[in-house]
Amino acid sequence: MSSSLATVAYIGATILFILSLGGLSNQTTALRGNLYGMIGMTIAVLATVMGPQVTMAGLPWIIGAMLIGGSIGLYAAKTVQMTQMPELVALMHSMVGLAAMLVGFATYIDPVATAAVTGAARTIHELEIYVGIFIGAITFSGSVIAFGKLSGRVSGNPLLLPGRHWLNLAGLLLVIYFGREFLQEDAGLTPLIVMTVLALLFGVHMVMAIGGADMPVVVSMLNSYSGWAAAATGFMLSNDLLIVVGALVGSSGAILSYIMCNAMNRSFISVIAGGFGTTSAKPTAAAGGEQPVGEVTPVSALETAELLREAKSVIIVPGYGMAVAQAQHTVFEITKHLREKGVNVRFGIHPVAGRMPGHMNVLLAEAKVPYDIVFEMDELNDDFPATDVTMVIGANDIVNPSAQDDPNSPIAGMPVLEVWKSKTSIVMKRSMASGYAGVDNPLFYKENNRMLFGDAKKMLDEVLTALKA
Ligand code: TAP
Repeated sequence: MSSSLATVAYIGATILFILSLGGLSNQTTALRGNLYGMIGMTIAVLATVMGPQVTMAGLPWIIGAMLIGGSIGLYAAKTVQMTQMPELVALMHSMVGLAAMLVGFATYIDPVATAAVTGAARTIHELEIYVGIFIGAITFSGSVIAFGKLSGRVSGNPLLLPGRHWLNLAGLLLVIYFGREFLQEDAGLTPLIVMTVLALLFGVHMVMAIGGADMPVVVSMLNSYSGWAAAATGFMLSNDLLIVVGALVGSSGAILSYIMCNAMNRSFISVIAGGFGTTSAKPTAAAGGEQPVGEVTPVSALETAELLREAKSVIIVPGYGMAVAQAQHTVFEITKHLREKGVNVRFGIHPVAGRMPGHMNVLLAEAKVPYDIVFEMDELNDDFPATDVTMVIGANDIVNPSAQDDPNSPIAGMPVLEVWKSKTSIVMKRSMASGYAGVDNPLFYKENNRMLFGDAKKMLDEVLTALKA
């Protein structure tokens, strides 16, 4: 393929990627967005493999690597549970970081690439390598730790080393110093290797210092980093498409991080600086907050059906437990039944419900719940006082009133769905255990709250049978 044809293919792929991102911003167009992305990526890969930079001798290596990588990716995508998606995403981000590091070292060692540039261009080339490896190494080690935290292999508690901000600052100064050394004539590999070790340690430290409750922001932040790592790789390889795509991923990840920070009432800088939130499954008192007092009022599936039958307006708040129980299809059946009886049923979605952005929307869409009755938290938080019954299905942190009432709570300040303001709230979960943030929930003890204990799918099946009886 000639270089001009490759350029045209790259421009086409870039347009498709932009259309893809646009499509993904809305549920009704998300499928189309995915399709654009897939076509764009196919064009991009074909144009690169058949492009002028690839020689015949290199082709078997590329095809072999693509077959191995593609098979692993296919296997992972087919076997991963929806609830393990954030871990998989974190692992994928680490791969982008690792690739940026390896490309950086390979480009520096490659005698042909190095000899091709001289003078000021050489300095810029080496700077690209240095920055690319730096971002790649942080993304790699940070993502590996994020994977460990999300999968429970590494403790979710923030690791707060004494003087950690000073440690970070000292690390940064050392990176700048070795960068200067690296740009000297015949500097060799040593400054590059020292910086790589520092960047790897920085990535580990950065994510270790972030508490479990703030992990959603970390995942989107690392998503952004992986984009910048890819863009840096594009500079090293002089590949315009990689630069543009990396910038698209980097900036959309940054916007997502900003949205997540708003959703959790955190400042972006403080999350990066670390030290928020814990994931200990102990009650809040252990985390410094107040412990709720009182008794809970359990209900049966039959009583729940009775409450629903008498209600005129119902809000359903799904959370991580609905995903674990795979209860979305029964939720849809109940919704359908109630709507047929003239009940106004709506869904309230918290931006960080579940374990990944849009987690609940995906599940509800899969169960064919109509989009027009699915609302964002802000759109219906004022409607709870006028709601007869709110069903909280496997959600916990996102409906915790201590986020508003208890300044010592690890989730203090996080906006929550104010379900306790409805006439009756029914919380469905298996036990009194805390949610992801490890925080006790005073909602359970409120007078107008009922607890329907059991697996969400099993209990909702019973509710549906009772409703239809
Ligand atoms: P959580 O606070 O984690 O609560 C989920 C609840 O579901 C648990 O208390 C659990 O109680 C219950 N549950 C689990 N399996 C169940 C089953 N089979 N049937 C019924 N209930 C079940 O979830 P949430 O309210 O959705 O809040 C999300 C949390 O995850 C937030 O803290 C958020 O910061 C964090 N997080 C979010 C993301 C993103 S991007 N969305 C990423 C990482 C972390 P039992 O064990 O008693 O059943």
